[in-house]
Amino acid sequence: MKINRQDFPLLNQKINGQQLIYFDNAATSQKPSAVIKSLKYYYENNNANVHRGIYSLSERATSQYEASRDKVKGFINAKHREEIIFTRGTTESINWVAQSYGLANVKKDDEIVISIMEHHANILPWQQLAKQVGAKLKYIYLNDDFTLDMVDAKNKITSATKIVAITQASNVLGVINPIKTLSKLAHDNGAVIVVDGAQSVPHMLVNVVDLDADFFAFSAHKMMGPTGIGVLYGKRDLLETMTPLELGGEMIEYVTEQSATFQSLPWRFEAGTPNIAGAVGLGAAIDYIQLVGMSNISTYESELTKYALTKLKVIKGIQIYGPRNEDQANIISFKLSGVHAHDVATALDQEGIAVRAGHHCAQPLMQYLNIKSTVRVSIASYNTKAEIDQLVTVLKGIQDYFQYDFT
Ligand code: ALA
Repeated sequence: MKINRQDFPLLNQKINGQQLIYFDNAATSQKPSAVIKSLKYYYENNNANVHRGIYSLSERATSQYEASRDKVKGFINAKHREEIIFTRGTTESINWVAQSYGLANVKKDDEIVISIMEHHANILPWQQLAKQVGAKLKYIYLNDDFTLDMVDAKNKITSATKIVAITQASNVLGVINPIKTLSKLAHDNGAVIVVDGAQSVPHMLVNVVDLDADFFAFSAHKMMGPTGIGVLYGKRDLLETMTPLELGGEMIEYVTEQSATFQSLPWRFEAGTPNIAGAVGLGAAIDYIQLVGMSNISTYESELTKYALTKLKVIKGIQIYGPRNEDQANIISFKLSGVHAHDVATALDQEGIAVRAGHHCAQPLMQYLNIKSTVRVSIASYNTKAEIDQLVTVLKGIQDYFQYDFT
């Protein structure tokens, strides 16, 4: 079925006197009423702490929280429910892998391989780990069409590599990376692969078993769920070896004055009172996405993206930073000659159009491309072709206003 735009109450408003057109979905998505209502319902009817109350309300809250874990398991096709750890989001998930698995397994002179298209959440944790243990951080660079250079990948991923950390979809270029091939490369060399799924999970079917990802991180808020909740998936045998970074209530089995034993998976990684309502909201977002159908979402977004690329690429003086092919994800970054990206975003905002402009939390990529910023349009399933037409009209007006010389 097709998504119903009316399900998203926020979209029904004017900004600066114009109907809002929301094209910043890679930063965060809007929420359907089903998700908003699930949070309200939870707080009005089921709120209690989980896993510790011997009373009906707490059992209800616990069963809702754990039901969301099962929904996540199904959504990414994990084998076991204990492989799904609730975190605050992608950033926390990747930091935990770096500081728990990484610190225990990466030694001096070992190598960590990432790509130049990563956003900061998949760079800084590895920079920090490399500094802590004296390891080397290496980057895979890009082809001329902005896709990942797989020859470079084969050169960089070697027997010295202990961790490969890579995004499935670039938050700037809209490139989708060949994760299955990269997993095999990592595994053939004895390394693990950490996949940043922040920009892929909301827009395409993900099967962590088929990808053979060792770890997979994503956030609820980019997939129509609430902020402050996300997921770390890890293969069970790897998670079993890892020490939790956060210690305290909920994650223990037995505590004495001087020592403690920890809970089994997944709870040993969920210290303190978790974001119960967030997990419930994430469950509602998964229900909503599955009701619409992820393949319907992907097909429609891909049609919109192709439409936008066709319309945008004929604008004089535009430079698009992305593959511009069949496989381009829902993200389009560009520059308009002679106009600063921030000016473009400000002028679009005056017409009610929300886009992101700047370095998109990917400064090493900007340095590599030798640019400071781009304008980024990121599309979701509630966007329309009419909105893209309006974007293109306003962009042309912006060029006229800044009097770009087309000669
Ligand atoms: N990583 C998010 C973005 O691309 C915040 O906007």
